[in-house]
Amino acid sequence: MTQPKKLFIKTYGCQMNVYDSERMAEAMGGQGYVTTDSPDDADMILLNTCHIREKAAEKVYSELGRYKGLKTAKPDLKIGVAGCVAQAEGEEIMRRQPMVDLVVGPQSYHRLPDLTAKAIAGERALDTDFPEEDKFEHLKARPKAARGPTAFLTVQEGCDKFCAFCVVPYTRGAEVSRPANRVMTEARDLVERGVREITLLGQNVNAYHGHDGGLAGLIRELATIDGLERIRFTTSHPNDMDDALIAAHGDCDKLMPYLHLPVQAGSDKILKRMNRSHTAEQYLKLIERLRAARPDLHLSGDFIVGFPEETEADFQDTLALIEAVKYGSAFSFKYSERPGTPAAERPQMDEAEKDDRLQRLQALLTRQQRELQDAMVGREVTVLFEKPGRMPGQMVGKSEYLHAVHVSGASLARGDLAKVRIVSSGPNSLKGELIPGEG
Ligand code: 5AD
Ligand code: SF4
Repeated sequence: MTQPKKLFIKTYGCQMNVYDSERMAEAMGGQGYVTTDSPDDADMILLNTCHIREKAAEKVYSELGRYKGLKTAKPDLKIGVAGCVAQAEGEEIMRRQPMVDLVVGPQSYHRLPDLTAKAIAGERALDTDFPEEDKFEHLKARPKAARGPTAFLTVQEGCDKFCAFCVVPYTRGAEVSRPANRVMTEARDLVERGVREITLLGQNVNAYHGHDGGLAGLIRELATIDGLERIRFTTSHPNDMDDALIAAHGDCDKLMPYLHLPVQAGSDKILKRMNRSHTAEQYLKLIERLRAARPDLHLSGDFIVGFPEETEADFQDTLALIEAVKYGSAFSFKYSERPGTPAAERPQMDEAEKDDRLQRLQALLTRQQRELQDAMVGREVTVLFEKPGRMPGQMVGKSEYLHAVHVSGASLARGDLAKVRIVSSGPNSLKGELIPGEG
């Protein structure tokens, strides 16, 4: 019997890349590759990259530099670059890094096995097409192996919004939705393999149009699958939060009360320059409607500080918006200049000022996050247990609000859902006790 070859995949960036890495590993499984956790014994190294901010691309180049020794010691080692940096800078990567054997973009990774065969034959292969064919249809059916209780499922890709700072519309292309029947088949298959919670993914997932009823229609259909207990989706644009989706937050029990709804900034002047097509007030009204439908909804967001020409007053508007919303969690970034995007052409802000604003913004977000987490103490939540904790006999899972919850001393298994009373709150997680007679 021939030894299986080993594939090491390193994933950067968003959850969509996590999903893509899984699918690439599965596609390579058909070619006799098994995944490994270490690059040292790999026959192939694949970096699945992210291009959203400057440092991400630099990280890829320095990571490639680290593999030089491995490649010298083992000339048969194949090195590939996938994902959004591959899409945007494929030819540049080939030029700058002669040791890269193949480059594959996010829309053509179903061709990875063919590209690998070419690389093994000694050719350097580059494929950054936006092919006509649907890559998901060309990927083999997913293997039947048992899975953990949570899974990502990409239902939509690309973005037509063209926010002035963002490379996604260029790297991932126009919005495309997967047909609902194919999503349903993949979801049923995941549930048969042990998955109890599915997070639907898309760069602009709430613009999903592969179901007559939009994303809300898809969620309601998914909710009919026995054994699927929880549904989440990420990431959304405020302008695509339609009435049906707001209503689903109110009455679809399987849709979890947590919503990632990036606003980026709180100043109307900056929102306009960002090409976000909504005002701060429209965003706040939307949050009000969502909370009217689901009063305990936890919100999460993305923020950018130091966008070109952001004044201190504009920044204060962002802080005021955060004060008004009260976020359960959030991601915040310094504006990072991306070549080819309109904002990169504008006068750029001083880096030290950006640093200062980011610190002040994060201090506020951390305080809010902690307050909302502390407010869970004494409350009853439902936890989906995912893995053992650090202490013996302890299990860790997520509440409906996506808080990590540790529970000790109960005979809990991975994939169990149980009612838990929260007893204390730490810096990054909660402690809870099983409610007797429940579960
Ligand atoms: N600079 C900083 N942050 C950015 N994001 C997207 N583009 C940039 C950029 N050029 C952030 C946005 C987006 C998240 C995924 O990344 O907040 O919502
Ligand atoms: Fe980028 Fe999101 Fe704006 Fe699309 S909606 S351009 S993915 S920030």
